[in-house]
Amino acid sequence: MVLYCASLMIPTQCLGRICLPEEHVALFIFGESMIDAGNNNYINTTTVLQSNIWPYGESYFKYPSGRASDGRLIPDFIAEYLKLPFVPPYLHPGYHRYTDGANFASAGAGALVETNRGLVIDLHTQFHYFEKMERLLRQKLGEAETMTLLSRALYFISIGTNEYLVPFTSNSTMLQSYSHEEYVGMVIGNMTTVIKEIYNKGGRKFAFLNVEPLGCIPLAKALKPGNGGACIEEMTALVKLHNKALSHVLQIQESQLKGFKYSKADLYSFVTERMKNRLKYGFKEGKMACCGSGPYRGVVNCGGKGSVKEYELCGNPSEYVFFDAGHPSEKAYQQLAKLMWDGDLNVTWPYGIKALVGHK
Ligand SMILES: *[C@@H]1O[C@H](CO)[C@@H](O)[C@H](O)[C@H]1NC(C)=O
Ligand SMILES: *[C@@H]1O[C@H](CO)[C@@H](O)[C@H](O)[C@H]1NC(C)=O
Ligand SMILES: *[C@@H]1O[C@H](CO)[C@@H](O)[C@H](O)[C@H]1NC(C)=O
Ligand SMILES: *[C@@H]1O[C@H](CO)[C@@H](O)[C@H](O)[C@H]1NC(C)=O
Repeated sequence: MVLYCASLMIPTQCLGRICLPEEHVALFIFGESMIDAGNNNYINTTTVLQSNIWPYGESYFKYPSGRASDGRLIPDFIAEYLKLPFVPPYLHPGYHRYTDGANFASAGAGALVETNRGLVIDLHTQFHYFEKMERLLRQKLGEAETMTLLSRALYFISIGTNEYLVPFTSNSTMLQSYSHEEYVGMVIGNMTTVIKEIYNKGGRKFAFLNVEPLGCIPLAKALKPGNGGACIEEMTALVKLHNKALSHVLQIQESQLKGFKYSKADLYSFVTERMKNRLKYGFKEGKMACCGSGPYRGVVNCGGKGSVKEYELCGNPSEYVFFDAGHPSEKAYQQLAKLMWDGDLNVTWPYGIKALVGHK
């Protein structure tokens, strides 16, 4: 039986008393600052891990929502493609429209609880919040309809960046205690645990970002100004190891978990390509950030956060690949979101998100 929303005359499924279009796909988001829509506005953390100050958000929202860019992030564009409203931070007071999804991501978070411990919502805690939300959904919609919602939903995950950044920016000794292979193995292992937990709750469709070319971003170059603009090779080596392990583990999950499907975007190549050939992709500046200070504007103090209050801001963020020391501009995110949705196999593998979620 096909039901119709009275006012819209489009096919719907009725979840409990909530009437949703038949193609309805909820969007659940887990990870770090690439995709945090502002959860860190609501936790005790350091200003460096928050983006709720001007000029963050200047290009699109016109206020600093907490997103670490000048405007929308990849999940915002994906939400638009899915015909959903922007998915707010889970911790946003009063937010309960979980039938559309929720964003659990936290800037600075990692798959390892040790990463920025006490300052972020780590990946395991993000999953616990998801479980809390899921219990509320079951009360509202019932078992069967919650299962339908969760199995049709898209789970968007970006994690790992901070595991390869924090050892170079703080006095953490985590990395020194292990070989690179062991360390990457723990990151991937903990991420896989959470993927399986989501799968056990009914999740089937996953989208991933691999880790950007961290060793070459403005932040890394500013860490070693004596390097004359060279990349930090050890960081690059770790990131490459991680990205290879991620590709491998996702193939394994697809073969072992019945019905598990994924789309993995190669953020590493995407950003590297634009840093090298900025003009080809419509950017004027590929190496220096729009907002920050010091070499390559790579000091993390956009908006005056951090210890150095004086910062520089470019006139037009859409001319820059990087908005701040560590994060792409809205324009770069928009380009990637489109490639991910359409399924450009140069960047996303083995499907695009549109095909993954079965949108026509
Ligand atoms: C956050 O930190 C402040 C100051 O240290 C403290 O007063 C407050 O209780 C903390 N809030 C939470 C939710 O932990
Ligand atoms: C690391 O430790 C040294 C010595 O205790 C200290 O001077 C330095 O500020 C610390 N660096 C960071 C990033 O915490
Ligand atoms: C998860 O990370 C912890 C360190 O936080 C590590 O001891 C553990 O072995 C990791 N788990 C997996 C499955 O890799
Ligand atoms: C994909 O990559 C190939 C080889 O690098 C290139 O020739 C082609 O133009 C790319 N396609 C798109 C849509 O970017």
